[in-house]
Amino acid sequence: MNEGVGTVDYDTKIPNNVQLTSDRALQRALERWLPNYLEWWKEMGPVDSAAREVYLRTAISVDPDGWAKFGYVKMPEYRWGILLAPKEEGRVIGFGRHKGEPVWQEVPGEYRAMLRRLIVIQGDTEPASVEQQRFLGRTAPSLLDLRNLYQVNVEEGRHLWAMVYLLHKYFGRDGREEAEQLLQRRSGDLDKPRILGAFNEKTPDWLSFFMFTSFTDRDGKMQLESLAQSGFDPLSRTCRFMLTEEGHHMFVGRTGIERVIRRTCEIIKEFGLAPGDAAGCRKHRVIDLPTIQKKINFHLSVTLDLFGAEVSTNAANAFNAGLKGRFREHAIDDDHQLLDAVYPVLKFRDGKLVTVDEPALSAINARLADDYIADCEQLVATWNRAIQSYGIAFELKLPHRAFNRRVGEFANIHASPVGVVLTEDDFSSPTNNWLPTSEDLEYLLSLMEEKPLAPGEFASWIAPPKAGINGQPVDYEYVKIYKAGGE
Ligand SMILES: [Fe+2]
Ligand SMILES: [Fe+2]
Repeated sequence: MNEGVGTVDYDTKIPNNVQLTSDRALQRALERWLPNYLEWWKEMGPVDSAAREVYLRTAISVDPDGWAKFGYVKMPEYRWGILLAPKEEGRVIGFGRHKGEPVWQEVPGEYRAMLRRLIVIQGDTEPASVEQQRFLGRTAPSLLDLRNLYQVNVEEGRHLWAMVYLLHKYFGRDGREEAEQLLQRRSGDLDKPRILGAFNEKTPDWLSFFMFTSFTDRDGKMQLESLAQSGFDPLSRTCRFMLTEEGHHMFVGRTGIERVIRRTCEIIKEFGLAPGDAAGCRKHRVIDLPTIQKKINFHLSVTLDLFGAEVSTNAANAFNAGLKGRFREHAIDDDHQLLDAVYPVLKFRDGKLVTVDEPALSAINARLADDYIADCEQLVATWNRAIQSYGIAFELKLPHRAFNRRVGEFANIHASPVGVVLTEDDFSSPTNNWLPTSEDLEYLLSLMEEKPLAPGEFASWIAPPKAGINGQPVDYEYVKIYKAGGE
């Protein structure tokens, strides 16, 4: 018999609310996947983290009032759980051609391939971001930030578990093969890259990390919100719980950038610098506002590419099939089938950017990108309020959606950050200074230095947060760093 201690031990290691023990085949499949996952974590997860004790939250239930507990955990011993939001009795499919039918508890045969693809694409982003952030632990601006990085990392790991659970449980042999592949691909690898472009970019410095968690984790939110509408109930329940965690990732990004801005504004005020004086700011080892603007330009444009072609048959098919809805589908006031509806889509026609009414069904991606941009506008507004609170006249702006795109309607044109269509020569002129230069990136790296961190210490380029984590003080020892060779 192969049950016994291993099985019980496995249960204590993987918190779950899906009655894993009642499905032996699934349990065994996940048991075989577990050591491969840990191997991947060791090879590609956060460097130097194995011996550290980190003040982490761990999901222990799906009750909105008390789903997590906080405490010191050694990273490789984190309890990666499989947690689905509670089943809603009588839930029906909310959109598409099956609207009003009961949701599916098993994979509908006709949609099997499409559904598997949606899960694999979502699943692939989770380990990718951990890989992208692998080295950041060496240059954290404080123990609190280091802890936040690790928190995001372990939760992205848990999101991978969430998708792998679905693949193993509902997709048989193909699902298991896909789950293996999720551990094989590597962010930025030329031979076996991650599936989506933004997840092969580098995250070499902490401004990039805060931008990534602001903009790219926010794309994650949009995708999860759409999948949470799914007529395939296990996917919906999985994504609903993931959204609980995603909120924290975006919080880390938003407040991280805000703290960078505050520190910069303090220096601008103290030394009477012009708001856009990059050289002046750099003398005092803070990140100048123009560099922050260029990073926004880069991260927003790269993330918009994740939404795919504005007009897309795949997106229409997934919607029609009831697999992937729109952002907060349930709150939209229309027929949820979009049979005759149109949606305005910005396109490039005859040398100009013009709005064209497209069948709403084909414009699902365009609409999701619109909702995303609206969310990002609010994000930038909070950063601008921080700048204004210092009485400094500088406004950060989102770049136009046609700026710097590689995917979709604007992939083959050049447009300025305010949406003026340009020739390639005019676009590439170095005087534009719209994207971070290699000099900017080197400067950012020069701010990242390895140094021993004491609780409550912060790097020169970032302000402390207003509050600590889970009611703890800002100078709490969020990560216990042990010297190599020590006990
Ligand atoms: Fe995630
Ligand atoms: Fe995330």
